[in-house]
Amino acid sequence: MFVAMFSVRMRVALGVITALLIALVSSTYALADGPWPNDPQGPQAKTIADLYWIMFVAAVIVLAIVDGGIIYAGIKFRERPGHVAKQFHGQNFLELTWTVIPTLMVVSFSVLSWQKLDFINNTRSSDVGMVIQAQGQQWTWNFTYPHEDRFKLSDGKTYLTGVEELHIPVGTKVRIELSSKDVIHSFWVPSIGGKKDAVPGRATELWIQADKAGTYKGQCFEFCGDGHADMLITLVAHSAPDYTTWIAAAKKEADRQNSPETAAGRELFRSLPCAGCHTIKGLTAGKFPGAPELTNVASKKSIAGGALSPVNEENLTRWLSNPPAVKPGTQMPNLNLSPEQIRDLVQFLLTQK
Ligand code: CUA
Repeated sequence: MFVAMFSVRMRVALGVITALLIALVSSTYALADGPWPNDPQGPQAKTIADLYWIMFVAAVIVLAIVDGGIIYAGIKFRERPGHVAKQFHGQNFLELTWTVIPTLMVVSFSVLSWQKLDFINNTRSSDVGMVIQAQGQQWTWNFTYPHEDRFKLSDGKTYLTGVEELHIPVGTKVRIELSSKDVIHSFWVPSIGGKKDAVPGRATELWIQADKAGTYKGQCFEFCGDGHADMLITLVAHSAPDYTTWIAAAKKEADRQNSPETAAGRELFRSLPCAGCHTIKGLTAGKFPGAPELTNVASKKSIAGGALSPVNEENLTRWLSNPPAVKPGTQMPNLNLSPEQIRDLVQFLLTQK
């Protein structure tokens, strides 16, 4: 009878263990990529991932030995009918083993981490090829390049700035100098490197390097208010020739914002009949019902009801030169603008993103 009761308890125990195992396996799947470093794509991220795996594997081995020992001893030496539980009072060899081995492990992990941290934290080594300043603010990142002459705009003073998107060349060690406008934020692009806090009133820095061209997602990692979850970073790593092309295009965009043509175009838009029909938020309130709003015209896929795509310098110029010729029957009249007026208006409209 006792034997029968005991086997019921054993069965319950087996059931519980099975349920726990299923929960563990399914939660691992639920986490999709698992709670470990994924896809390291730069020397710093790789170093961190290596450290992680060494410690993870060691921890799993220790877990297996310790838990295995507990389960084995619990079953083998338990009290049961016809068998008195064994009593132990000290075991010098075992006690020495489980003191010396963990001590050696902790010491070697510390030494290993110390060595790797030296590499991970070295933002001032001679091989730093580029410096970018990143400022966190609720809830976005601003990137500026005050140390890089190639980012100087054509007015000779202002340098290129970027929001949320950070562009770097592949294979270059980049120092990121962090600051914050308001609260503590944290810069982190997991595939490329470790994380570092941006603290108000304090200068912090980290370095990053991408080995492969591509787009990498990052996220502010310090809770900083309502918009924290949306405080994203898109890091784009370009090959060297692509990077040169990107700089030229980005500078052209930035120059347009500051150019006299854009300023003149803005004034023209307000004074010419455009203003009577089209709305641009913060500038005009158009009254003509069929006239499209132009607040974000430069981000649209097409203009003239789809007749011209994409929205670029060439197509806007064509449209403004003679709308009825592009789209017969359009409500937009030919205003007989001069080439200079068209140029200025186009430059201004291209800034409306
Ligand atoms: Cu910024 Cu969280």
